[in-house]
Amino acid sequence: MKQVALDIEINADQAVVWHEHLLYLLDQRVLPQEELFVQCQTVTDARNAIRAMVVRGAPAIGVTAAYAVVLAAREAWAAEGKGWIEALTAKLEMLAQARPTAINLSWAIGQMKSVISGLEDKDSDPEPALLETAMQIHRQDIAANRQMGAYAAELIEHPTSVITHCNAGALATGGYGTALGVIRSAHAQGKIERVYADETRPWLQGARLTAWELERDGIPVSLLVDGAAAARMALGGIDWVIVGSDRIAANGDVANKIGTYSLAVAAKYHGIRFMVAAPTSTIDMSVASGAEIPIETRAADEVLSCGGQRVAAAGVDAWNSVFDVTPASLVDAIVTEKGVIHSPNAKKLSKHMIR
Ligand code: MRU
Repeated sequence: MKQVALDIEINADQAVVWHEHLLYLLDQRVLPQEELFVQCQTVTDARNAIRAMVVRGAPAIGVTAAYAVVLAAREAWAAEGKGWIEALTAKLEMLAQARPTAINLSWAIGQMKSVISGLEDKDSDPEPALLETAMQIHRQDIAANRQMGAYAAELIEHPTSVITHCNAGALATGGYGTALGVIRSAHAQGKIERVYADETRPWLQGARLTAWELERDGIPVSLLVDGAAAARMALGGIDWVIVGSDRIAANGDVANKIGTYSLAVAAKYHGIRFMVAAPTSTIDMSVASGAEIPIETRAADEVLSCGGQRVAAAGVDAWNSVFDVTPASLVDAIVTEKGVIHSPNAKKLSKHMIR
């Protein structure tokens, strides 16, 4: 993968950039120490970048996939001309396999496929129409985040501190963020005193990304080691846990970064409310419950090492399941761009989705 220092002003809204006919991804593996972009010239480059965690976070993966379809179509058109659609199919299957849990990946590919099916003239270069759709998906994701922020800020009644997990910010989305979008909107209304960000082992998205975003926005942030959240809850002053999601099942069960479930259990015990902010593109009505959501496991070495240095004794193994499922019964509110679902269940979700 080719890393480049892109000559554009980086702000936290630019994790995914379409620039001079190519896709650039802010390399989240090296933040906050370095601000470099990975250049993607082909769909394979984009697939590899998603797999390698250059770009991560469900909505950002979706936006990346939309632009990756543009690259794939360009390759197929250049190689096959009028036979481009057939050549594209295998490329899109390969792209869809990049990571299994975030539904936004296949959602975005599905949106792009619908545009392809609807093309009136399938014998012309498809790139302009596909690029327009990818850009629209990108813009709509940012708009959805801002809308969620507005709805969710209403739920926060008094100034309070909150806990968040992983990174559900601008870096994890098209821009602004889901959980961090809520926090940004609520902070602008004077409702956020401090954000406690779980560091989120083993990739440290909380320490490296969430804290970086909040610090740049001037929102007070303190890091917690993942195991500290319950102890901090017990001290009081926290009204909400606010997280994003990689996939929400039709009954309201929520898949998110490993450790989210423990937070929800601890929040219930301490009488703290639990909010999930996610666009409707993260809701997968084809899976009845969280038990059907495919959960990604990654290499044990990610847990056995820290900062590239082996820390566990030789011969020790690790279980590196990178997401967990929080049952709907532990969720007080799911906030989407369409509004708020209080105490989610299957009936409420299906009503919400047809709004
Ligand atoms: O493994 P990651 O970093 O892709 O996991 C990301 C998360 O779990 C986020 O919380 C989720 O995608 C929501 S992002 C708006």
